[in-house]
Amino acid sequence: MSNNIHPIFDQLVSREEKESFLNQHSKLIWLTGLSGSGKSTIAKGLEKALFKRGFYVQVLDGDNIRTGICNNLGFTVEDRSENIRRISEVAKLFIEAGVVTICSFVSPTQQIRKIAQQIIGDNDHVGVFIDAPIEICEKRDVKGLYKKARAGEIKNFTGIDSPFERPDDPNLIIETAEQTIEESVEQVLQFVLPLISKK
Ligand code: ADX
Repeated sequence: MSNNIHPIFDQLVSREEKESFLNQHSKLIWLTGLSGSGKSTIAKGLEKALFKRGFYVQVLDGDNIRTGICNNLGFTVEDRSENIRRISEVAKLFIEAGVVTICSFVSPTQQIRKIAQQIIGDNDHVGVFIDAPIEICEKRDVKGLYKKARAGEIKNFTGIDSPFERPDDPNLIIETAEQTIEESVEQVLQFVLPLISKK
């Protein structure tokens, strides 16, 4: 065996080769924000817009993560940290496979978001703060969870009896109370396109 390198490594297809195959640079677009801020709607809109332009994309959100790989986790600080750690490790595999990956998670504290950023690496991580005032999110109450949290039926609810720390260093801030979903998607799209397009 030459250079002490196991022959298995010769069989690996590199990330660069996969990115060339897909004609894109893979990145992680991490959306953080309160429940009801519009994260998942923007994530899905962005996925569609990118796919239409020929990019190979995957969204990770509560629908495909908290029902599966993280279905044994709740909303304590420890569980949220473990949730984000697992998501970040999964997202890293997608990125290594050349896929543009969109993560949509509350990820409420600096420390939790740091876990994600450290696993993903600064070069691949794009942090987007989906910013909407708690009053607006509560008024929207798409899933009726704020009402339950106010009634004490749900504990540790972000923004009610569990903290949300505004990110102090996001790459992009989207104010969803000020504009339509389409405008928000367009704003993220225009920010992301140059980062994932091959020259
Ligand atoms: S995170 O804090 O660990 O990042 P995650 O994004 O996976 O949270 O899940 C948040 C979603 O779970 C919310 O959009 C909401 O629909 C639901 N949920 C249920 N209980 C809570 C809670 N206590 N706090 C926040 N979200 C909750």
